[in-house]
Amino acid sequence: MTCKIITIDGPSGVGKGTVASMVAEELGFNYLDSGSLYRSLALKLYEKNNNFDEVIDDLDYWISDISIDFQYKKGFKSRIFVNNEDFTEKIRTEKVAELASRIAKDRRARDMLEVYQRKYLIEPGLVADGRDMGTKVFFKADMKFYLTASVEKRAERRLNQLKDQGISANLPNLIQKLLLRDKADTERLISPLIPAKDAITIDTSNIDALEVFNITMNKIRENLKNI
Ligand code: C5P
Repeated sequence: MTCKIITIDGPSGVGKGTVASMVAEELGFNYLDSGSLYRSLALKLYEKNNNFDEVIDDLDYWISDISIDFQYKKGFKSRIFVNNEDFTEKIRTEKVAELASRIAKDRRARDMLEVYQRKYLIEPGLVADGRDMGTKVFFKADMKFYLTASVEKRAERRLNQLKDQGISANLPNLIQKLLLRDKADTERLISPLIPAKDAITIDTSNIDALEVFNITMNKIRENLKNI
C-alpha cells in the first residue's frame, strides 16, 4: 500500500486546521499543521533574541540548536514541542503569527521546516494543512484542497477563537492584521500562498466546519479508491 497525501491550504482563519484534523481522524491518517512549525520556530527565535532583524541576518546561527516535534494522535488535540518544551498554547497569539509570517519569507527557515514536514508522511497517509502543502512540499499529493473565505468571516472566527482562550481583541484590528498577513503570504517570493492548479477550491464564508468536512470527504471518496 502506498501512502496517500491530502493537502489543505488557504489563508489564515479559513478553518483549514479544523477540517484537516477532522479528515485525518476520519481516515485514520497522520495530521500535520505546518503553520504551527512556523509559529514555534518564530517564537523560539524571538525568545532567544527579540531583535528579529538581527536573528534573520544570522539565521543559520540562531536556528542551529532548535528542534521541533509536532505530535498528533487520533482522538487527541495535537501538541507541539520545541527543545522538549510544550509550545502548544503559547504560539496561538497574533504577535506570534506576525513573527511566523516574517520568518516564513526566509529560504533557510523554509528549508529547515520542509525537512520536518516530510517526516510526518507515514502509512497509511497524511493530511497536511498550511500555505504551500499542495504547491511545494507535497506537490505530488493525491488530492489538494484550497479553502477560501471573506476576510470579515475569517476575522470573526479568529475573534471567537481568541475569546475562547480568554484573549481580548477587536474586529477591525483583526481584519487589518489578517489583510497584512495575507499580503505578506501571497506576495512573498518563495512559496507564496496560491491555490495549486489541481486544487479543489471551497469557499467557507457561509458554511460551517461540519459542512466543509462533508464536502471534502465526498470529494475524497469520489476521487480516491480504497480509502
Ligand atoms: O497557519 P498559521 O496561521 O498558523 O501560519 C502562520 C504563518 O506561518 C502564516 O501566516 C505563514 O506566513 C506561515 N506559513 C507558511 N507556510 C506554511 C504554513 C504557515 O509560510 N505551510
